Amino acid sequence: MDALLGPFEGPVGEAMRYATQGGKRLRAFLALECAALFDVPRDCALRAAVAIEALHAYSLIHDDLPCMDDDDLRRGQPTVHRRWDEATAILAGDALQTFAFEVLADPATHPDGSVRADLVLTLARAAGGAGMVAGQARDIAAETADAPLSLDRITALQRLKTGRLLEWPCRAGAILGGADPEPLTEYAARLGLAFQIADDLLDVEGDPARMGKAARKDARAGKATFVSHLGVEGARARATELVGAAQASLLPFGDRADSLVRVARYVVNRDN
Ligand code: IPE
Ligand code: IPE
Ligand code: MG
Ligand code: MG
Ligand code: MG
Repeated sequence: MDALLGPFEGPVGEAMRYATQGGKRLRAFLALECAALFDVPRDCALRAAVAIEALHAYSLIHDDLPCMDDDDLRRGQPTVHRRWDEATAILAGDALQTFAFEVLADPATHPDGSVRADLVLTLARAAGGAGMVAGQARDIAAETADAPLSLDRITALQRLKTGRLLEWPCRAGAILGGADPEPLTEYAARLGLAFQIADDLLDVEGDPARMGKAARKDARAGKATFVSHLGVEGARARATELVGAAQASLLPFGDRADSLVRVARYVVNRDN
């Protein structure tokens, strides 16, 4: 990642490198492991992994801004607008987003231009106004809504906010391999919801020192979540059920999908 981010100068370049450090790299892992199912060359898969982590980092920089979640800590470090300032945070986020598409559109990602175009198109749809951004907008609106969201509404919101950016690396693996992305899309949809339920559980029960970000924010913001609807035990049971379903989606791949089976278990057992 750092090698590719090298040319970006000044505080914005520094902030771009800073914001891409220290995460769990779950989306990168999904890109690499899904691509490996189709024998995609590692160098090509790595570029899809870099693109999704850059795009994810942009979404977190902007999510932490005072006008959004107003958070001071991310990955155990000051958020970008606290370390620098809001203008630098907005610009670093903008530049990480365009960088993601630059990486995908570069011929080094795949020799076939139509494959590269498909990667760019699917990521734009996943991240944009009918994808992650729509989920973020619904999330912000929910904070001031008259009534808490129903479980169906929350599920739909989370599929956009978190789900689409977890789904893309799985689809990208298949696209790079010239394979049908649908079986992995089903896996990712189930994994994404389980991931978000775990995030909601961590917000209630997690240790902020382990998580590297603030906890107890959802209740304070009066947000309805999977936990506020289902209770801690109910949410945990739902997450476990979704992990089983996600793992079942991998059956057609047999032993080759072992790492994806294991990461599904990790997603709900994680403590950060
Ligand atoms: C955090 O994602 C934001 C959500 C979508 C809930 P991660 O928990 O994957 O964050 P990092 O990349 O490990 O910091
Ligand atoms: C952020 O969701 C999701 C995106 C940036 C798309 P949250 O606001 O719940 O994530 P955290 O809890 O700050 O990591
Ligand atoms: Mg948020
Ligand atoms: Mg947030
Ligand atoms: Mg959260």
